[in-house]
Amino acid sequence: MSIQVIKCKDYEEMSRTAAAIVAEIVKQRPDAVLGLATGSTPVGTYRELIRMYEAGELSFSRVTTVNLDEYYPISPDNDQSYRYFMNHNLFDHVDLDKAHTYVPDGNAADPEEACRRYEETLAAVGQADVQLLGIGQNGHIGFNEPADSLAVETHVTGLTESTIRANARFFASEAEVPTRALTMGIGSILRAKKILILANGAAKREAVAAMLAGGLTTACPASFLNLHPDVTLICDGAALGE
Ligand code: GLP
Repeated sequence: MSIQVIKCKDYEEMSRTAAAIVAEIVKQRPDAVLGLATGSTPVGTYRELIRMYEAGELSFSRVTTVNLDEYYPISPDNDQSYRYFMNHNLFDHVDLDKAHTYVPDGNAADPEEACRRYEETLAAVGQADVQLLGIGQNGHIGFNEPADSLAVETHVTGLTESTIRANARFFASEAEVPTRALTMGIGSILRAKKILILANGAAKREAVAAMLAGGLTTACPASFLNLHPDVTLICDGAALGE
């Protein structure tokens, strides 16, 4: 039941490999539920899915999507929000019904309430057929940061210094990175039927090694993927420390 590894020669091959698996799931089940992620890692996968849609190979018209996380507080129009990211990198370019795309509400007056509502949404749309994940340099998945204990369900979380620093490259300055986020919990993520975790580049080497070590440690939230029977790591050699 260990994590399967597909080693790719570069980012492009990683992206095509991930997109091909997602596309096959949507072809088999046109009303699939896709769990989606943000960050720079899955952008190429989304680009490839858009290409397939444009080529007439794939339709998302009956697909539902659920995203992992969102900054808090942030407006959906802010170009750094994950809602904006998803619209921009995927949703606006395919035939998805936007009413069937869910991202935690970074604009909610009550963030705890927004998390409870998101868990209700996840329950209503049903188990994701596949969950796409990136991995933080510190082993975070979604925004489940290394901590003494990890949350099971969608919750409000503070971002670690290292994540704020890593994500500052997308903002005008580090001070503008929100310090909190709403994120699916480890349990919400593990509910997916199948999990694809993507990693490229040497910066992910330690996090990937901690995950592949096979034990469970809250110091590497991704290590909890070892509890799931169907996880595939799609990565390049650098992420494997080669
Ligand atoms: C972000 C996101 C994660 C993402 C990770 C890695 O903070 N919340 O979902 O996987 O960091 O990002 P990147 O793919 O840009 O390295």
